[in-house]
Amino acid sequence: MTKIIDGKKISQRLKDNLRIEIDEIKNTFKRVPGLAVVQVGDVTASSVYVKAKTKAAKEVGIIVFDHHLDASTTQSDLLHLINKLNKNEDVNGILVQLPLPKNINEQIILDSIHPNKDADGFHPLNVGKLSISKSNNENLLIPCTPLGCLIMLQNEGIVLSGKNAVIIGRSNIVGKPMAQLLIKESCTVTIAHSKTSNIENICKSADILVVAIGRPEVVKSNWVKDGAIIIDVGINRINDVENNKTKLVGDVMFDEVKNKVSAITPVPGGVGPMTIACLLKNTKTAFLNQNKI
Ligand code: GUN
Repeated sequence: MTKIIDGKKISQRLKDNLRIEIDEIKNTFKRVPGLAVVQVGDVTASSVYVKAKTKAAKEVGIIVFDHHLDASTTQSDLLHLINKLNKNEDVNGILVQLPLPKNINEQIILDSIHPNKDADGFHPLNVGKLSISKSNNENLLIPCTPLGCLIMLQNEGIVLSGKNAVIIGRSNIVGKPMAQLLIKESCTVTIAHSKTSNIENICKSADILVVAIGRPEVVKSNWVKDGAIIIDVGINRINDVENNKTKLVGDVMFDEVKNKVSAITPVPGGVGPMTIACLLKNTKTAFLNQNKI
């Protein structure tokens, strides 16, 4: 029987625990963690994510400082805002939703966030710490999507040590940090990408396959090994011709692949909710780090 990994359920458990921990923080410190959520412009997908992140943060008791800026915002305006947020003691975490408009250099912005307030774990110092730390320890700020993928695997009791893990995608947001996390869990890690030759065969060698391509239903059943574990990071909106509507699908051909594997995450309801829960976890971690706990 194939296990459908329920990211919604696992993320709810994570959020329930965070709610309790944040209540304890409130009793001890007489204040709660604060998260600044910065969006520039109105890219539809970003608005959806930002709304979901804001709602979830409030549900666990985090204070949200919402900064929705016009698409015409300049890089120096944005740097000025981040500088203010870095100094604001009520703000423990800062999230700048990506992508940013073309006139703004994303790396300059990410570098300007104080590393201790880096709720996404994208600052070079946190990227470096993730790379050199021996374990995936509690006070690291780790990119939310790969952290969510790892927590799902651990929650399912999947043994990682010694497994062949293949990650499709080499982004700073998912592929590279996912590799760091799985290396620390003693997996043998391969990163495949758009220029990889023989990608199907490489995927077929995977005990654990993490797919972050960003294109709908690319991974078919002849790409996967019998009994493999599949984590589908993709969220793609496509036309549903049968129903004359649109629908969300992953980067994996779910209906076909699910019959062949031992476990798989669905889209929606897999990685997406875990990304959000991990952002809240990082905000709590940032608070505790800043308060030297
Ligand atoms: N855009 C896509 N994924 C992410 C994410 O995890 N964090 C931020 N800030 N932007 C994103």
